[in-house]
Amino acid sequence: MANTQEIVSVLTESRVFPPPEDFSRRAHIRSMQDYQRLWDEAAKDPDKYWGDRAREELYWKEPFQTVLDWKPPHARWFVEGKTNLAYNCLDRHLPKLKDKPAILFEGEPGDRRAITYGELSQQVNRLANGLKSLGVKKGDRVGIYLPMVPEAAVAMLACARLGAVHSVVFGGFSAEALQDRMKDAGAKVLLTADGGWRKGAVVPLMKNVEAALPNAPSIEKVIVLTRTGDGKLPEGPKFVAWDALVKGQSDTCEPEWVESEHPLFILYTSGSTGKPKGVLHTTAGYAVNASLTTRWVFDLRDDDVYWCTADVGWVTGHTYVVYGPLMNGVTTIIYEGAPTQPGPDRFWDIIERYKATILYTAPTAIRAFMRLGDGPVKQHDLSSLRLLGSVGEPINPEAWMWYRDVIGGGRCPIVDTWWQTETGGIMVSPLPGATPTKPGSATFPLPGIHAEILDRDGKRVPKGQGGLLFVTKPWPSMLRTVYGDPERYVNTYFSELPGMYFTGDGARTDADGYVWLMGRVDDVVNVAGHRLGTAEVESALVAHPKVSEAAVVGRPDDLKGTALVAFVTLKQGNAPSEALKKELAVHVGKEIGAIARPDEIRFAEGLPKTRSGKIMRRLLRDVAAGKQSSQDTTTLEDLNVLAALRQTDE
Ligand code: WTA
Repeated sequence: MANTQEIVSVLTESRVFPPPEDFSRRAHIRSMQDYQRLWDEAAKDPDKYWGDRAREELYWKEPFQTVLDWKPPHARWFVEGKTNLAYNCLDRHLPKLKDKPAILFEGEPGDRRAITYGELSQQVNRLANGLKSLGVKKGDRVGIYLPMVPEAAVAMLACARLGAVHSVVFGGFSAEALQDRMKDAGAKVLLTADGGWRKGAVVPLMKNVEAALPNAPSIEKVIVLTRTGDGKLPEGPKFVAWDALVKGQSDTCEPEWVESEHPLFILYTSGSTGKPKGVLHTTAGYAVNASLTTRWVFDLRDDDVYWCTADVGWVTGHTYVVYGPLMNGVTTIIYEGAPTQPGPDRFWDIIERYKATILYTAPTAIRAFMRLGDGPVKQHDLSSLRLLGSVGEPINPEAWMWYRDVIGGGRCPIVDTWWQTETGGIMVSPLPGATPTKPGSATFPLPGIHAEILDRDGKRVPKGQGGLLFVTKPWPSMLRTVYGDPERYVNTYFSELPGMYFTGDGARTDADGYVWLMGRVDDVVNVAGHRLGTAEVESALVAHPKVSEAAVVGRPDDLKGTALVAFVTLKQGNAPSEALKKELAVHVGKEIGAIARPDEIRFAEGLPKTRSGKIMRRLLRDVAAGKQSSQDTTTLEDLNVLAALRQTDE
């Protein structure tokens, strides 16, 4: 991990944008004084603050007795309480919102469906009853590998209704990635589709599932939604058609009232080893913060048409496409496909037609649109928008300004929201009616969130200086463990400074106390908004028969934020060639998914190592970025190796 002295900030940004007055007037939190008051209350008496929030946000079948039981690093929140998240997303709204659209769906080919809260509730209950008929019960793990269609939300909610633990796998992941995750989770049932639409082509989900099944022995049944094909199922007793399963099922299903700490989902995410971690979230704490942060950060109103463009395969899709918006009873847009299909204006077309009021997307998408110029945006009336959000990586001020001026017409506040799979919900973000924003800064921690920038000894770093971002006190939506590997939970997150959650990010505060995220300090990279572990890509590469060793690092990239550069040494008897580069890229795509394909592969005679044999990644990062290294190279095993790597630059 990086030394804090090495986290050097180069950004200087002095523009400040106060919230528009008419926005503040109607906002949930209207001023910095209000924010500060909430922050102070939460800091002074966290039990009262979170206890009050929990009672306000959720319906409790049985009240909790204890707000927090904290035995570092293990937290239990809202102990003895019982609730059900599907009930909180659906049933409790029905008296008022039965006919209100919950989901406005648009498929990539242009098919459209509006699903009301009443209809969504019926679909969830039918599927829950169908799952029950297959023997799914409380605590069972259920895999979900679906395109961005409403059934993905239906599947998640049906699991939550039964107390089954869902594990969603992003549809862009390969058969290998799917099988590893299903095996690790011990999933009993997998919900999938024949395919999904992306860039005018079919993503072959079913084919991947068939390839994964022989190595995922826990899966007893595969439920197949027809999305792209003719409804024909693969041969074999494991396959059940979604339609046939739900047909004739009752549209009521008594929710399973689960205890607060009952597991809700496992979501695999990259870390600094080759094996993704199963981040485990539990029910009530996650739900309280998902509901609260969605309402405050997006300043929700009843008539909002809210669009978060994330895929349900990532945590943003869990918290801000499905659970947060539905708990708040708003209308949410789900779009299946690629942002530029069939033309560069698809997003703007959707916003205009549905009169979307809130758009929450990723910097990499914003930069891609920026490249396409203002033309496609100008063809559409985006005056319905009133708030913009950004997530996934630091947003560069230039993209922030374009987002504000061209998409937001200069009138919409931007919320740059910092959080992680592990935090369950937004942690550092402006509150749009209160916080004056600065382009590129996530501004301040939300009330109750103790995000602090410390050095390795746990001392606060002075303003302006880079440090490591920790969360020094527990919060309700924090991950509870790494599924099946409790030691890894402790080692990864709580071993830098005992009892404090280490985020893996570097950050600094400026003279006004604004938080500026500075990227990962571990071997995790954010490529085009997707979180990847360089070690995962390395282990995929060395699994290729011609590869001897591989080191993968990130290099700054204008579009993707970070691009992947792989340094590869070959086994004897193999010669470097362009064809082999292609072969390796395809191989990584097969092992993990297209998102993990290196942008550049460089063959090398050897990799720079310390005397103890550790690959010197920071040095390679400099080489990849074309920088002369300022690194101390005295521990290098072989300086010639470095010189040789540089030469491959030419
Ligand atoms: C990065 C996505 C800067 C960060 C919700 C974090 C950000 C990782 C921001 C988590 C932001 C996310 N500004 N960096 N607004 N949001 N990140 O788990 O490095 O896919 O650690 O969760 O994304 O990625 P994950």
